[in-house]
Amino acid sequence: MTAATTPTASGGGARAGTGAALLPSLYTDPALMPAEQELIFERTWQLAGHVSALPRAGSYTTARAGSQPVLVVRDGDERLRAYRNVCRHRGSRLLSGSGQCKGAIRCRYHGWTYRFDGTLIGVPEALAFGERLDKSTLGLLPVRVEELCGLVFVNLDPDATPLAELVGDLPERLARYRIEALEPFAQSDGGDGQPANWKIVVENYIEGYHIPIAHPGLMRMLDYKRYAVDVREHYVWFEAPLRAKPSANRLERGYARLVEPMPGLGEEDRRVWRYAFIYPNTTIDLYPDQVNTWQILPHGIGRTDDVFGSYRPADSSPRTRLVQWLNQRLNTLVLDEDVDLVDNVQQGLQTRGYVCGPLSRREQAVAWFADRIRADLAPAVASG
Ligand code: FES
Ligand SMILES: [Fe+2]
Repeated sequence: MTAATTPTASGGGARAGTGAALLPSLYTDPALMPAEQELIFERTWQLAGHVSALPRAGSYTTARAGSQPVLVVRDGDERLRAYRNVCRHRGSRLLSGSGQCKGAIRCRYHGWTYRFDGTLIGVPEALAFGERLDKSTLGLLPVRVEELCGLVFVNLDPDATPLAELVGDLPERLARYRIEALEPFAQSDGGDGQPANWKIVVENYIEGYHIPIAHPGLMRMLDYKRYAVDVREHYVWFEAPLRAKPSANRLERGYARLVEPMPGLGEEDRRVWRYAFIYPNTTIDLYPDQVNTWQILPHGIGRTDDVFGSYRPADSSPRTRLVQWLNQRLNTLVLDEDVDLVDNVQQGLQTRGYVCGPLSRREQAVAWFADRIRADLAPAVASG
């Protein structure tokens, strides 16, 4: 969406890419999708939602790890548990959306019932299965789950490194925003999506080189020269200070004049937009007035679902609500501009025989992302 890049020195863990963009076929060849699913979406931490969807025992939410349906439920000990969202009987999806289970997870098809710890405890007319029914082998299929600063992540790889370990100091950077205490006020399950491969959408989010050309409103609001990126091994952090000079645009000027830091933030946070990107497809937009998250999911080779959540303090004042509305208006315009950009990249990359040109230092996160993708897909792609 936004983001940019004055490369800054950043302490330990900073990392530069090789500078080479991915081959165009990686964005256009549908034959690649099963490998991406297996080697990326089934091995990495995938955002599954916000803790506000899981307030008490029996609360659940559902998500996708790429194509794979997953459910997260809070058990009787207040612990989060995650499972493949499929009934062990004949494959019905168990839960949809978010909500509250009454004491157990019950399949809507034939009523097989599971405890929150995954154990199968109820089978209607169990005797009719004869000896073929061994409940102890028919529990829900577990999935790794972790909470990071109020955001819930799942991972289909039982051997995955814990997310907290991967992202190092990211929780310290997020902590001041108190994401766990915010409440949702706008959400979308991907809706219209974006007309480009998911990696094009990611790459557009993690570089700001296009801001001066393609986002006139953002350019008026942000101090582009001071826009900074810090590339770490598993995440990228962006700092986008707002300009001191008031914008000539009424909405932009209103936002900059009225915005106040949320509880937890200080004066130094009032005039800066921050973004975090966790490899491979989670983005967290940190504004003084709200936090937005996106899960960038493939929907076919040339389309992307962007699963979106917006969060703010429960007791936002009328002034802050106005600021939040202005923020949404301004960023919807930016998103519309980005949708047009990624659409054009997807079209252009169909050009037979084309290879991408060099990447700028302002695109160092794109180089990092390309390196990560190449490494993950190496078992399936000879070069690229
Ligand atoms: S598919 Fe779930 S009970 Fe039959
Ligand atoms: Fe953009």
